Amino acid sequence: MPEITLVTRDGARLAFDCGADENVIAAAANAGLFLPAMCHEGSCGLCHAHVVGGTYEMGSYARDALSDPNQNGVLLCRCRPHSDLVIDLPYPQVDIRRHEVASREAVIDALAPAGTGAVAVTLIFKPDPELGRAADFVPGQYMELTIPGTNIRRAYSLANLPNWDGRLEFLIRLQKGGLFSSYLAERAKIGDTLIARGPLGNFMLDATSARPRCLIGGGCGFAPILSMLRHLADFQDTQPTHLIFGANLEDELFPSEDIDRLRTALPHLGVTLSVWHPGASWTGFIGTAADAFAKYLDNCPETPDVYVCGPPRLLEAVMAVAHERQIPPERIVFERVFQS
Ligand code: FES
Repeated sequence: MPEITLVTRDGARLAFDCGADENVIAAAANAGLFLPAMCHEGSCGLCHAHVVGGTYEMGSYARDALSDPNQNGVLLCRCRPHSDLVIDLPYPQVDIRRHEVASREAVIDALAPAGTGAVAVTLIFKPDPELGRAADFVPGQYMELTIPGTNIRRAYSLANLPNWDGRLEFLIRLQKGGLFSSYLAERAKIGDTLIARGPLGNFMLDATSARPRCLIGGGCGFAPILSMLRHLADFQDTQPTHLIFGANLEDELFPSEDIDRLRTALPHLGVTLSVWHPGASWTGFIGTAADAFAKYLDNCPETPDVYVCGPPRLLEAVMAVAHERQIPPERIVFERVFQS
């Protein structure tokens, strides 16, 4: 039976056996290692990693789930070993859970437009005999939501704060042809029951760092950033913090009341709203969120901690700027927005 050795970004080595009919994600779970994964069908890209030793076969997958097919990039949910494998993981050991995550029923409580092409969705947990009702999570984490009547799951970051009422708030971009998007646009209604699994993810603020922070959200990647800023506002945080919220078009920026409230609650908060293709009346920053990040660094006296959430292209652009400015990778925490 082939042996799989996973090497995490922080250098931990974790080994387990993989059966002939198993993919790497399933074999890891059988060994008590729950790797980041969502769709298990080769479309979300969450299980992306690099094989650095050994041979394997890959089942079919959606091409855009794997951005670097020529560099030994693999989707571990489609990867079956032919020999022992050594696999580099792009995340630290702490991202590998050692137990399954709870799934609970939640009811749609509100649906409302959030800028053009996005929806603000509020769910309320049904009371659970073991888990109660509270929504317990860390700002920056996400939940997997199952489309009613299917086994199809999609991951969305939480935009609100943990609470006793079981309230879960999401900002979800409607993607043409996306399965969850189609559900939201055509069938979803108040009172629908969904299965919510989580919280998941390690996109979290480093509470031990005294460095300035730069929080970058692209499109619906603003959701976990909003949750983090609400948390900082709750604690009347005084650390210098800069928000960059980027969108392609002006009307894709979500309503500004949240940002106005945050500015009032956090006197040390700087804000850059960046629009790539603005109308003639736009007076804010023109360019991508990565361009705005480069400009922010020009005037930042100290290397900041960087938190970025958005689509893959934004993450790559921000990483390129950070690399050029010699920001150590360990100062950058990122989360990818899932397309749906
Ligand atoms: S879990 Fe492998 S691509 Fe989604």
